[in-house]
Amino acid sequence: MWERKPVLLIVLATVAILIGTIITMVLPFAWVNTEADRIESVTPYTALQQEGRDIYIREGCNNCHTQTVRPLVPEVLRYGDYSKSGEFVYDRPFLWGSKRTGPDLARLGGKYPDAWHYKHMESPRSMVPKTNMPAYGWITKNQLDPQMIQRKMDVLGFPYTTDEIKALGDKNEMDAMVAYLQKLGSDIPWRAAATTEIVGELINPFTGVDHDTMEPWEDLYKENCAACHGDHMEGVIGPKLVGADYYDEILFQIIYTGIADGGMPSFSNLGTDKVWKLVNFIRYYGQGEGH
Ligand code: HEC
Ligand code: HEC
Repeated sequence: MWERKPVLLIVLATVAILIGTIITMVLPFAWVNTEADRIESVTPYTALQQEGRDIYIREGCNNCHTQTVRPLVPEVLRYGDYSKSGEFVYDRPFLWGSKRTGPDLARLGGKYPDAWHYKHMESPRSMVPKTNMPAYGWITKNQLDPQMIQRKMDVLGFPYTTDEIKALGDKNEMDAMVAYLQKLGSDIPWRAAATTEIVGELINPFTGVDHDTMEPWEDLYKENCAACHGDHMEGVIGPKLVGADYYDEILFQIIYTGIADGGMPSFSNLGTDKVWKLVNFIRYYGQGEGH
């Protein structure tokens, strides 16, 4: 019967759309853009980080990477604490994105040491063998140009001092990019707070297994650890593990939870079984008995 009353239909349809609009668009503005969303610890980008951000946009990194962790359990487990609106106050434009060819980068800061980023940008495949991320080593050759940056910052009204901008003269685009990447998501102290609690007693299930059993575990080490600790545990970006003289339980804890803000990622995603295998592998070969 509705189709016979076009005016009423139009009125009702408009009302329905308006209600939807108010709930999904107008109300959230009232809810999120309030002082209560301010986060004290969120600081503006330094001139170097801001410059890195511009290069990130220029190179289209956001075509493959998002910068927002949604409040969903699998996302929080994979990437870290979900994003809060107050974290984006200095992002113009924001780079939340919608396409994840590569992982989300919103919580990247502090995950890896600087040296890891320089190598990964230079040659992603040297750090993550099967990645399809392009190499960006060439940006190292582009020195930053303070004059150009000064003009840009003036137009945009960013409040950097002349001295801050002059100081960029001896940096290149790679320095700026790495500085920016290390800033992402590090303004709130979520990493230390999120350190995985290990519940229950830690008992090494592989105590006393022989060398032959351990041999295949080398693949676990090669895949996950060698990029930072070296093919033979000699140390590269991370410290050498040869002679690492820790109790099994401590080793387990270091690998499972990582070292927050020390640049040693958490490997809880491997599961306890694989982490114990790594513990035993490192204990055995790290004592200089093998390689
Ligand atoms: C064609 C898609 C693609 C583009 C473009 C791309 N990446 Fe990636 N990126 C990936 C993939 C896939 C990975 C996951 C494997 C790896 O670490 O290389 C990744 C991983 C990363 C990581 C490591 C993240 C982590 O948590 O381990 C960083 C940092 C990164 N990319 C930065 C950048 C930057 C900066 C740019 C732009 C200069 C960029 N990416 C452009 C695909 C891309
Ligand atoms: C992104 C680089 C990176 C990766 C990948 C990585 N580590 Fe680390 N690791 C570090 C850094 C950096 C430190 C030093 C952290 C500190 O002391 O603050 C460290 C420290 C350690 C330590 C403590 C060493 C000591 O002498 O105190 C152990 C043990 C360790 N890592 C084991 C592993 C294992 C096993 C893996 C693979 C599952 C692994 N790491 C993967 C970077 C990495």
